[in-house]
Amino acid sequence: MKPAKKNVLKVRRAPRIETELVVPGDKSISHRAVILGAISNGPCTITNFLEGEDCRSTAQAMRQLGVVIESPYPGTIVVEGNRGVFHPPSTDIDCGNSGTTMRLMAGLLSPQKFRCRMTGDPSLSLRPMRRVIEPLQEMGARLRAEGQSHCPPLIVEGGPLVGITYRLPVASAQVKSAILLAGLFAKGTTTVIESVRSRDHTERMFEYFLIKLRREEIWEGRSLIGRKLKEIRISLDGGQVPESRDFHVPGDISSAAFWMVAAAAQPGSRLLVKDVGLNPTRTGIIDVLIRMGACLREVVESSVFGEPSGTIDIKGCRLHATEVCGAEIPNVIDEIPVIAVAAALAQGTTHIRDAKELRVKETDRIAAVATNLRAMGVDVEELPDGMSITGGKPLKGARMKSFGDHRIAMAFAIAGLFATGETVIEDIACVQTSYPTFFETLKKIQKGPASGFRTPVISSLLTKQRRKILP
Ligand code: S3P
Repeated sequence: MKPAKKNVLKVRRAPRIETELVVPGDKSISHRAVILGAISNGPCTITNFLEGEDCRSTAQAMRQLGVVIESPYPGTIVVEGNRGVFHPPSTDIDCGNSGTTMRLMAGLLSPQKFRCRMTGDPSLSLRPMRRVIEPLQEMGARLRAEGQSHCPPLIVEGGPLVGITYRLPVASAQVKSAILLAGLFAKGTTTVIESVRSRDHTERMFEYFLIKLRREEIWEGRSLIGRKLKEIRISLDGGQVPESRDFHVPGDISSAAFWMVAAAAQPGSRLLVKDVGLNPTRTGIIDVLIRMGACLREVVESSVFGEPSGTIDIKGCRLHATEVCGAEIPNVIDEIPVIAVAAALAQGTTHIRDAKELRVKETDRIAAVATNLRAMGVDVEELPDGMSITGGKPLKGARMKSFGDHRIAMAFAIAGLFATGETVIEDIACVQTSYPTFFETLKKIQKGPASGFRTPVISSLLTKQRRKILP
């Protein structure tokens, strides 16, 4: 790997992976931690906060609203909760590339007593906001999008809200979270109904911050085997103030996914990822890789902060094709670019369906993945809601674009580790949005196992004596 100069990354085939690593804090959880801290009733120290650009956008938005946030050490922030009593910002709130910032802030700003305008970069300016505008308007909020087809900028004229019951038309944790945040400030009860389970970090964090929340799962069919989830109803009463508490953000499994695929697809590799989030609404990548034949296990070691976390242990082998569709999609939505790379390395044809949401992410991820895989010599059939990828042929190094999308850039850096010749990825500055230390880890992986390195092991399964000899 050449250093990331001139916004271009050059990657070559990597040797076998034999290492253990930690990944930076979870992006979804970091956003929520700073928001919950800000509306709580006192100081909250948040450790392992992701200092990527997206979460900085959320922290900066909170500062513009008058919240004091200090950063005493790298990765630690102290948020002075002010019970959600914000000051009007003197300028527009710039959400950068972050859809989570804009959508969650829409929920938080709707009940305020002032007007606020939120803008984004060219990518965010093309992302749909109707999905948050409609339910918030139903609650009485006055907000509108200035861009075409309900795209940003977003203008929020704050005012009093009333609780509603809202069935999510798309499985979206961002929309669910925007409504629940608004619901905290609304009169009466707010209920969100989802028929497909999306990530539940907001619910878990609300409970951790001692907000009373009711979660009800309704199942179809009587027997435990074969019953099907019909819907999940999440309700809360307005007027609750989160209790200030300290919080530790676990590592981001969506960032770990890149190395998990790199190790899983290479026979002879061995990787341990430590202190990584293992929330079951996010671990679909583990299930997908196991279905593809990967030798992989997870150990939950803590759930002190309401979020399970622990270690993932992977042994590399030959992968084979699988199908990724239906209710599994929201669980792996951010991992699909790197799952597509795994599919290109696997024997057979992998089908990815029901994932049309990928068309409205940081870029159109179906088109971007198909274009880049084809550049590497892979057969890809692009579909409106997914793709079919026939893997098993050697990947050819190629020059390709990131399309300004962090997950496309990183997924194809991983593809480059398996390709003949050189893979060149343009416009890789976007990686800073979610994984600022990605290139350091890539460099370590490219170097190969350090001499004298012992095969990593899950330390929680070892005796104390054995733990001492771990490098
Ligand atoms: C996120 C939810 C998902 C995900 C995004 C982060 C969140 O988006 O793709 O990267 O933190 O709530 P949707 O809510 O649009 O599915």
